[in-house]
Amino acid sequence: MKDASPPAAPPLAMLAELTHRCPLSCPYCSNPVELTARQAEMDTADWARIFAEAAALGVLQLHLSGGEPASRPDLAQIVRAAREAGLYTNLITSGIGLNGRRLDELDAAGLDHIQLSLQGTGPEIADRIGGYSGGFARKMQVAAEIARIGFPLTINAVMLRHNLGDLPATLALAADLGARRIEVACVQFQGWALRNRAALQPTLAQVDQAKRVVAEARQTYAGRLAIDFVPPDYFADFPKACMNGWGSTGLNIAPDGKVLPCHAAEIIPGLRFQNARETPLAEIWNGPAFSAFRGTDWLPEPCQSCERREIDFGGCRCQAMALTGNARAVDPVCRRSPFRPEVDRLIAEETSTPAPDFVYRRLDPASR
Ligand code: SF4
Ligand code: FES
Repeated sequence: MKDASPPAAPPLAMLAELTHRCPLSCPYCSNPVELTARQAEMDTADWARIFAEAAALGVLQLHLSGGEPASRPDLAQIVRAAREAGLYTNLITSGIGLNGRRLDELDAAGLDHIQLSLQGTGPEIADRIGGYSGGFARKMQVAAEIARIGFPLTINAVMLRHNLGDLPATLALAADLGARRIEVACVQFQGWALRNRAALQPTLAQVDQAKRVVAEARQTYAGRLAIDFVPPDYFADFPKACMNGWGSTGLNIAPDGKVLPCHAAEIIPGLRFQNARETPLAEIWNGPAFSAFRGTDWLPEPCQSCERREIDFGGCRCQAMALTGNARAVDPVCRRSPFRPEVDRLIAEETSTPAPDFVYRRLDPASR
């Protein structure tokens, strides 16, 4: 029988995970714990075809991510293909694997914007969190090359228990590097970050301090550095609208071509994820995985009768799955969720004990 529901409004943004390979091994990584092996990655032509389909579907912005996208030797060709498809291109990178020559090639290919991750403000903390000795020094060299070419730059700083105290220095470094924007993102517990939650969980005092620092810094850096702040979910009273609402504005493509409504969606059992190698993107966008939690009709109570249901769409499905074992549950961060006491208990437990060692994100050596 033909599905009578009208096609969904088109997506605006697409995140392309070009590879799960990465020289760093940050314990806060949002990649799935089951990483995709190099042998399963799509080639340049696959990506070029998908970019053309995405543009035809309505996508305007393409975020090239990973893993570390610079691990792909064909990165400049991929950027060129995206620009030829008419997409705005943003490279999300640790910088490791880039140099002046490769950045010049990316510039010539038409790359529009770079987001450079920062694990810390000095080699000791940054290299510890990234699990890569010498990484900070190389990142600073890459930042200088980015400034030489004049790419618009955003710094991505993931904040966790070990580096939240360095927030003022992080903001100062972003300004020194010539960034126009910094995204101060408190770690979101998905993928490897969920596995490392007890090690990464910030304390309430750190979160309160970070909010004060951001409020003051927005005045200090006004006109020079825009500051986006993503507060930690667990400390909020209401959840965020994850992905702006499931299947509303964005889609993620895994390195092997699997199309996901969000980066963590594979933890949800029962969803069938189609592959862009085999199925047109437009069909996938209107297919079963994207329709599963689209809009508000599916919402349970108390969301269904809540005044915030068009604001947060019941929060994050993957967080509900991870914490309650039920992807259809109210996001447990919500004060109206019956699971909220469990979130408070987790925070209390994890912040009153010494942080355990990191479990570094690693791809099986045979798969690199
Ligand atoms: Fe959001 Fe549901 Fe909580 Fe209302 S009850 S704030 S819609 S998660
Ligand atoms: Fe999957 Fe939030 S990360 S819905």
